[in-house]
Amino acid sequence: MYNLLKGKKGIIFGALDENSIAWKTAERVHEEGGTFVLTNAPIAMRMGQINQLAEKTGSEIIPADATSLDDLQQLVEKSVEILGGKLDFVLHSIGMSINVRKGKHYTDQNYDFTTKGWDVSAVSFHKVLQTLHKNDAMNEWGSIVALTYMAAQRTFPDYNDMADNKAYLESIARSFGYFYGKDKNVRVNTISQSPTPTTAGQGVKGFDGFIAYADMMSPLGNATAAECADYTLTLFSDLTRKVTMQNLYHDGGFSNTGVSNEVMEKFIK
Ligand SMILES: NC(=O)c1ccc[n+]([C@@H]2O[C@H](COP(=O)([O-])OP(=O)(O)OC[C@H]3O[C@@H](n4cnc5c(N)ncnc54)[C@H](O)[C@@H]3O)[C@@H](O)[C@H]2O)c1
Repeated sequence: MYNLLKGKKGIIFGALDENSIAWKTAERVHEEGGTFVLTNAPIAMRMGQINQLAEKTGSEIIPADATSLDDLQQLVEKSVEILGGKLDFVLHSIGMSINVRKGKHYTDQNYDFTTKGWDVSAVSFHKVLQTLHKNDAMNEWGSIVALTYMAAQRTFPDYNDMADNKAYLESIARSFGYFYGKDKNVRVNTISQSPTPTTAGQGVKGFDGFIAYADMMSPLGNATAAECADYTLTLFSDLTRKVTMQNLYHDGGFSNTGVSNEVMEKFIK
């Protein structure tokens, strides 16, 4: 442990169960001396085991639907009160597509599902940022991170409308990052993570093939949820103060690999 986050306070969205990237991040932030409020959608609270995580990390839980401005306002106000001051870090680790869940093909979307998924997976990030900004809830040089996937840049057929949601999410990080940087010296970035076996990840059709292929293509292999947590900590720390408005690949080199020998061998006759 490096005490990287000693004295820092924040909010962590999206810890559903122990596989969640947000769960691993909460554990690591705690180890590094950070304190935080845990939050998730009220409906997910019953399913998840978030109470265990709260106990383990000495955190309070405040339920909030990340698409509800009222919930977010309450969450931010209460978090600042509980933690005893403004925030230094926020993790947005939220994603959901009803089209994916219901098996609707990309060429046959139900647009009510599309709109809901876009609100949860992308616009919620703007809502979180706007609520923090309006409440002046972040300390100078604070850091806000959202998680994304490379389907925002390249097509993966079964990622469906989540690809569009992630493209929108990454754009919000750049656009809001500009204003938050100018106004308050607050950083806003997205981390583009390898396929990871979590509830959200495994919802994608053909996930097993998907994750094995990415692993074979990546010179360093897929990045795990625990490794993603480590990377996020560096962005929350004071060691990355001038990194903002970036989409940062955390994928073992996958995004810059054309083909690997291991994948080629499967095609050589
Ligand atoms: N698993 C992967 O392969 C992978 C790869 C790249 C990026 N990501 C991204 O990482 C993030 C975390 O996902 P994960 O893989 O840890 O899966 P996960 O299922 O553990 O986490 C997704 C979370 O989103 C929460 N959520 C859904 N609707 C919400 C709402 N209305 N308000 C608040 N929270 C809500 C869920 O309750 C859950 O905790 C997501 O943005 C996901 O797209 C995942």
